[in-house]
Amino acid sequence: MAILVTGGAGYIGSHTCVELLQAGEDIVLLDNFSNAKPEVIDRIRELGGRDFPLYAVDILHREGLEKVFAREEIEAVIHFAGLKAVGESVAIPLDYYQNNVTGTLNLCQVMARHGCKKMVFSSSATVYGTSTDVPFREDSPLSTTNPYGSTKRMVEDILRDLCASDGEWSACLLRYFNPIGAHKSGLLGEDPNGIPNNLLPYIARVAAGKLKQLSVFGDDYDTPDGTGVRDYLHVVDLAIGHLKALDFARSHKGAEAINLGTGQGYSVLEVVKAFEKASGVKVPYQMAPRRPGDIATCYADPTKAKKLLGWQATRELEEMCADTWNFTSRQK
Ligand code: NAD
Ligand code: UD1
Repeated sequence: MAILVTGGAGYIGSHTCVELLQAGEDIVLLDNFSNAKPEVIDRIRELGGRDFPLYAVDILHREGLEKVFAREEIEAVIHFAGLKAVGESVAIPLDYYQNNVTGTLNLCQVMARHGCKKMVFSSSATVYGTSTDVPFREDSPLSTTNPYGSTKRMVEDILRDLCASDGEWSACLLRYFNPIGAHKSGLLGEDPNGIPNNLLPYIARVAAGKLKQLSVFGDDYDTPDGTGVRDYLHVVDLAIGHLKALDFARSHKGAEAINLGTGQGYSVLEVVKAFEKASGVKVPYQMAPRRPGDIATCYADPTKAKKLLGWQATRELEEMCADTWNFTSRQK
């Protein structure tokens, strides 16, 4: 039987597919390519060392999903497919609710009909909202400040209700902190369309000479150097976390929210410094006003992941920066 990976051609999905293949799992990859390039598929095949079925299907298209489950023997689903840009979600909320919530409902209904009741879901630390109670634990209060965050929280609720209604279901709700970095080969990484919103892709494009300078959003936060502090984790560590979560879902029933982060926060200026060291390239920056909706400090308490999944991040910030640079400096 195979693992269906929705959104498998995306940034985190592609790295997870490689790790799954290398671990000997059979996969079926589904993506609508709304935010991924088709050439990623060949790279996954190359790095994973094996072929797999690919479906260019949208999770909003029920018949497409039905076809996948009718043709393939799916044991469990790792569900990455979704829209993820916070600012865009404020501008087009209905698209976000439809894609992320309705899409997941479709998927769960088709799964249930085919007796497939194990899911690993991409949630986000964004569900902790503007709480200042760091480090965030899975039982910290939840709140959201934008439609993207609300879709994650709603899907978490849906999966919890589903597991409560049917004891055969298991769902791991993985709350990612800030994934960065790229595959060591330089063949997979994050290459957003347009001007990046997130810190690392922005820094990398400045270093590559494609953007003039970084704007540091706020230098008056209550943090050691006044700039925002986040829990950055290597995308390969994150990918491996999904394999551990899959094993957990195989042997446990019910819904479980689990943080995936390092437990260590770094400021924007610390990241700039680490990137300069790893790349040998200067990253010019200027101080700018705070970005609306940002919080000062966000990092995980990763105890539960260690306890339940036996997972712990191992890659340091410098390696994350070096791998980001190795990938970005190869892009045209
Ligand atoms: P990504 O955009 O690179 O990957 C998502 C993939 O899903 C893309 O390949 C896209 O084409 C596909 N997709 C989107 N809508 C689809 C649909 N309706 N049907 C089929 N495929 C669809 O994003 P990512 O960074 O790899 O994130 C993966 C998941 O993790 C997302 O759900 C995201 O919200 C969540 N997440 C990401 C981060 C992050 O910082 N990257 C943090 C927390 C949570
Ligand atoms: C963002 C999302 C969050 C999502 C997370 C996943 C927003 C508001 N939040 O979080 O929902 O779960 O990504 O990775 O988009 N920064 C700069 N200059 C820049 C870009 C960022 O100074 O050009 C700073 C930010 O103010 C922040 C830090 O860098 O302090 C990290 O920002 P970013 O990479 O966008 O991640 P988050 O804001 O943590």
